[in-house]
Amino acid sequence: MSNGPVVTLDGPAGSGKSSTARAVARRLGFRHLDSGALYRALTLALLESGLAEEEWDGLDEDAMRALDVRLAPRPDGFDVIVGGRVVVEELRSAEVTSRVAHLAGLAPSRASLLSLQRAAGAHGRLVADGRDMGTAVFPDADVKVYLVADLDERARRRLRDEGVDEPTSEDLERQSEAIAGRDLADSEREHSPLRMPDDAHLIDTTRLGFEEQVDAIVALVEGLG
Ligand code: DC
Repeated sequence: MSNGPVVTLDGPAGSGKSSTARAVARRLGFRHLDSGALYRALTLALLESGLAEEEWDGLDEDAMRALDVRLAPRPDGFDVIVGGRVVVEELRSAEVTSRVAHLAGLAPSRASLLSLQRAAGAHGRLVADGRDMGTAVFPDADVKVYLVADLDERARRRLRDEGVDEPTSEDLERQSEAIAGRDLADSEREHSPLRMPDDAHLIDTTRLGFEEQVDAIVALVEGLG
């Protein structure tokens, strides 16, 4: 731990990983790494390259690297850079969101992003969130957390993020189905599937307030001594 701790937060879609990781990093004065943003950035680069989606499976690691996705450190995290420009909103477009699971299931895409993620953690003081942070990317992390929440609650949170505060039962059903589909794709894929690291702390956020879950994780890091 001479470089300072690495903290990993993994969990299924809508479990609150990214917002929690960002808040934990801010409280500790660490950097936050949103690894999902890297898979989204690679997807954006591929969409912009004009290569048909059917061709993605034939790309090797060098071809993935040539798409030139980079991270540039900021005091509180990292800018994600595609083709020399910082990307933020583009990463959340419906087009990227609907295709990123395909890309994230391909071994060469995962291999091409591994060194970027490890370099981000090389100096410690990092809170990294994703699906395989504690299993594949940072297996020696100092604190590992696995966040879960009931499907209904995760659907409500996603809808709230989209500005729907009072969802109808149809809204909830549609969103729950979409999330359950993503859970299945993430946990059943062959390469780095989503699973709880053996040495992770399990935190169920269904009935926890946001500050409570942030406090719980900060306490784990401060308890490292
Ligand atoms: O968390 P997110 O919605 O931004 O993730 C986007 C996609 O990338 C999603 O399909 C899961 C995948 N992903 C992954 O496979 N491994 C990670 N470490 C992070 C995200």
